Amino acid sequence: MNQLQFASSTAYIDVLENVLEQSMESRTEWLNSIAAALHSSDVGIVLKIGKLDLGVEKSRQVAHLLADEICRTLQKQIDLPTLYVEHDRRRPVNVGSFQTRTLLPHHDGAHCSYLTPSTLDCTGWNPSHRVLSNEGYSTTHQHKVYQGFFVVDPGYGLSVTPYYPWLKVLRDAFVYRIHSVPSLGQLQKWLGDNIDASITAQPKHHCRYLTLGAALGSRRLVHQGISLHWAEEDFLPAELEVFPELRHYGDAQRLPRIQLLDEVIGETLGMTWSKFRETYEVNVVSERNDLLLGHNIFLVHGGLMGGPTRWLEPICLALDEAAGKNYECWLSATWKQFYDRLQPIS
Ligand SMILES: [Fe+2]
Repeated sequence: MNQLQFASSTAYIDVLENVLEQSMESRTEWLNSIAAALHSSDVGIVLKIGKLDLGVEKSRQVAHLLADEICRTLQKQIDLPTLYVEHDRRRPVNVGSFQTRTLLPHHDGAHCSYLTPSTLDCTGWNPSHRVLSNEGYSTTHQHKVYQGFFVVDPGYGLSVTPYYPWLKVLRDAFVYRIHSVPSLGQLQKWLGDNIDASITAQPKHHCRYLTLGAALGSRRLVHQGISLHWAEEDFLPAELEVFPELRHYGDAQRLPRIQLLDEVIGETLGMTWSKFRETYEVNVVSERNDLLLGHNIFLVHGGLMGGPTRWLEPICLALDEAAGKNYECWLSATWKQFYDRLQPIS
């Protein structure tokens, strides 16, 4: 059992009781600080609407209002004027024969929403590779820059969202595999090569998502081809058809997907899934009627031991297309921001 590391109090933001009666202008400074935190934090943030005890309808109204205002603030602050709020459909928490469900590290909508090089820094990279698949996805086809949800019901399991600093994970994978510390440009190019390799191999692996293993440089087809999302889920018939060797995965100690995840992380970072969690994971707690938002490109997130009655309404800040001058500028500047903050390798 891993020890859990939780986010500091700065991840939790109180909301004023009369927020619906006030103008957006009266809270400009507050919104600016939230937008800045979302843009640069290594964990998600929680707007503590639940503490106001407003009931679900009014709380949802507050959550939608604040998501709109944060989006408008971000449009100016990070110069992405076409960023908008996307409300997606509720998704049930399917636990199968288990009591809870754990989601492994992922970007929401990872068929078209994941970290890529900026073409300002990697001039030869093809930005059409920001979409891995145009079909068969479970969310929507919007590029989700920030992910989040309104908590209608935290459920009978945990209401805990783990976050992982994706650029640090990527840098550490480069160091492990290439045996040198990358410059900012080298790291972007390496990631671009990894994405290109997964797309080239797509006719063989058939995966519609950029997997963790593919992004972190594994060229093994099974690492590129199996998206590890729901920890307790058995391998699907379609996955076993492509990779029959997975039939033998799973034992008394480990779930089949965790066994494969151990292999992926061993190959790309030289550690186990348990060590990965100990090294990178920081958890955020949300309660009934709270709004959680986090970076969906420069962080990956999971979902720890959620119960079957958990009810989340996804609220993302999205773009119709991850392309164009503003996107490339934003991406380049954000790479630099997160890269400059990395601790040197000791
Ligand atoms: Fe998610």
